[in-house]
Amino acid sequence: MEAAKRFGRIEPVAAAPSAQIELGRALYWDTRLSADGKTACASCHSAYDWGADRRSASIDARGNPTRRNSPTVFNALRQPMLRWLGDRGSGAEQAEGSITGSMGFRAKDEILPLLRQSDYEAAFRAAFPGEAEPVSTRNYGRAIAAYEATLVTPAPFDRYLGGDAAVLTARQKAGLRLFIERGCAGCHAGALLGGSAWMRFGVVKDYWLATGSARIDEGRYAITRKEEDRYVFRVPMLRNIAKTAPYFHDGSVPTLEAAVRVMASVQLGQTLGDDEAAAIVAFLESLAGDVPANYAPPAQRP
Ligand code: HEC
Ligand code: HEC
Repeated sequence: MEAAKRFGRIEPVAAAPSAQIELGRALYWDTRLSADGKTACASCHSAYDWGADRRSASIDARGNPTRRNSPTVFNALRQPMLRWLGDRGSGAEQAEGSITGSMGFRAKDEILPLLRQSDYEAAFRAAFPGEAEPVSTRNYGRAIAAYEATLVTPAPFDRYLGGDAAVLTARQKAGLRLFIERGCAGCHAGALLGGSAWMRFGVVKDYWLATGSARIDEGRYAITRKEEDRYVFRVPMLRNIAKTAPYFHDGSVPTLEAAVRVMASVQLGQTLGDDEAAAIVAFLESLAGDVPANYAPPAQRP
């Protein structure tokens, strides 16, 4: 089957609960561990929003809007590079970097006294046995990453790739065919349908000027300072995409159908008919799994 070659299944993670995973989850959901005492990782990666944020911009612990839309953390650690600009190499690095980013501290070490006051010392000791000083920002990142690696969401599409053809409706299968034939899969490929390539966001300036949307974001150019990286963003994965509106790095597009039409026009120079757009949307819905049962701690489950 052509789809099996281009894409790929994701399997549930059979993660035995470990001290590291438990610690990572507690840290991730704890609002006390932020500069304003009100912000947790989960504030912008909500269980109601499939690990993403329905707000175009989230509000960080300094009270400022984030520059880009918050992507889902589900399946995210399977990507070789993280964030819209691919500028973080691992979940541990991403989490540790958030201390002075979204969590609002001036220096990483400012979180350490808070971890001790909030009774985390024993949990760090259990999660990192044998270390002389287990309460460290490095271990904060490692524990959170161990937890995030368990947040995998197999979906109907995986069962389809596994040979159960009846899982997808006729319309979803038509959408899958269009997704391949129209060229979407040229960029959105692999088991996550994206996540590992960088691509110019179409004729981005024309698109933005035409829609009057959003501020101009120069993309990877901000990091590499190479002209060819101007307006280049990571090709986002499309796992759970039907659950994680709004769309694009600036969260400027509210519906999936509109996002699919923008893609067809700015990346491929095509106009989709109503039936075609609806079929592609129906296919993309088959990429949505359930919110992992262990995402939220019991007291905070939706
Ligand atoms: C104030 C909102 C906010 C908070 C708090 C926050 N994040 Fe995020 N997160 C974002 C935004 C926005 C991005 C995208 C940033 C970018 O690409 O420029 C992001 C990106 C990520 C990514 C990368 C996902 C991908 O597909 O590349 C991971 C993983 C992540 N955050 C985990 C965390 C963890 C762990 C914490 C807590 C330590 C945290 N976030 C706290 C808003 C937030
Ligand atoms: C040339 C590469 C390329 C092609 C072809 C392409 N895309 Fe994309 N896609 C991207 C990039 C890059 C982004 C991120 C754009 C941004 O936000 O800056 C994206 C974003 C998206 C998003 C929004 C993701 C999110 O998390 O907000 C959807 C949905 C999407 N594409 C679907 C499609 C569909 C459907 C097609 C075919 C009609 C398609 N794409 C064709 C590169 C491509």
